[in-house]
Amino acid sequence: MADRDAELGIPPHGGPVQVFYQKKGARRRPTVARAEGIYMWDTAGRRYIDASSGPVVSNIGHGNPRVIEAMLAQAKKVAFASRAVFENAPNIALADLLTGLAGPGLERAFFVSGGSEATESALKLARQYAVARGETKRWKVIARDPGYHGGTMGALSVTGDPESERIFGAVGRIMPKVPAPFTYRLPANHDADSYARHCAAALAETIEREGPETVLAFIMEPVGGLATGALVAPDHYYGAVREICDRYGVLLIYDEVMSGAGRTGTFLAADHWPAGRPDLVTLAKGIAAGYTPMGALLAPAAMVETVAESGGFMHGHTYAANPLSCAVGHAVVSEMIEKKLMANAERMGNVLRRGLEALKTDHPILGDVRGKGLLMAIEIVADRETKAILPAERQAVYRILELGIERGLLLYTRRTANGKYGEWLMVSPPLIVTEAEIEEIVHLIGETLGAYEKELGSGR
Ligand SMILES: Cc1ncc(COP(=O)(O)O)c(C=O)c1O
Repeated sequence: MADRDAELGIPPHGGPVQVFYQKKGARRRPTVARAEGIYMWDTAGRRYIDASSGPVVSNIGHGNPRVIEAMLAQAKKVAFASRAVFENAPNIALADLLTGLAGPGLERAFFVSGGSEATESALKLARQYAVARGETKRWKVIARDPGYHGGTMGALSVTGDPESERIFGAVGRIMPKVPAPFTYRLPANHDADSYARHCAAALAETIEREGPETVLAFIMEPVGGLATGALVAPDHYYGAVREICDRYGVLLIYDEVMSGAGRTGTFLAADHWPAGRPDLVTLAKGIAAGYTPMGALLAPAAMVETVAESGGFMHGHTYAANPLSCAVGHAVVSEMIEKKLMANAERMGNVLRRGLEALKTDHPILGDVRGKGLLMAIEIVADRETKAILPAERQAVYRILELGIERGLLLYTRRTANGKYGEWLMVSPPLIVTEAEIEEIVHLIGETLGAYEKELGSGR
């Protein structure tokens, strides 16, 4: 690898580079060379199976020829044109495509460069809508704990993460939180159904406590991402939340940055629960599948018009709706539709779930398998009976991630709140995944869990 890296002008590991590594010792990763389909290769020629689509991004796999062609064609025409001067055809086409897929009530699409910007856009549009309607006291956005909506300051205010609240709470404004309706590790005297009812009731109580006239919106991930490990609430939770929001005139925002764009088997995860239809939806990741930085806010036409008439949406980013990104997004979503990848996500999601469930027989540290479609997670426990978590100093999921990489298996993890709610890894391959590839993924996960159990047994 060293020779190949040198050829490519990459200094040896440990050598001086100007990259801003965020953690001590972070530069120990292989250097990526190329990727195709659901496989990636490093500069040493080692192959990895992308069992998580990176951070749940690469929905249509790597190296897709249609997308690359569309990217080249648009770049040759015009890569960037200011929205202050020009309309651009890819923006119009992508807005048409996404709002058509999202359906009634979400007739406008505002494009940005990622999930955090999409969250900011949703919070600002909601606030401006309230002001435009004379409800100027409404500004509080209730969110779930744990939850994740992005790393920018506005998004952090609704991100349920005690560590970032500790550090950034003084800078931004931390919004009220309600518990996420976990289904696996539950408080005493609760089953998943009763706990979901308790969590929905907590939303109503929080709105009452904060003063309903001050509450602007409630934001949640309909199928959880990394913060909850693909949490799916019992069906009745979604309708209950919608009803509570309606009762108090509170907007319901679904963060579908991870769950949207077909990943759960429908275009929006919201489509699984018609009774819980949201007012605003954010998208990112899968809508451009890693081929370009892209996010979107979907909103009702009437809301956009109300804000436009009251002076206009005071928001924007330089790269918003740039022609190149929109053309790429259009090619990605068109590919997903033509190749029927949503149906594949549902089918392969079932195959994956069965495979992962079967691993429980030989792997006692596998506590829970959950998720929807190809947005799945495996929860790691010390003891399946008690659901006890492994000691924090083990940082089990990070070690499992490493053992996977050693075996050519790529998963995705981050410990939420230092394991307060448990610890898990995302298993979320690209939506193009085949049954044979799922078998390979499940086999490698089994081997990886086995290797970790061996380490636990040997007291390492
Ligand atoms: C549910 C959810 N919302 C928002 C974000 C933020 O997106 P980005 O990292 O593109 O800013 C993420 C990123 O992981 C996410 O999973």
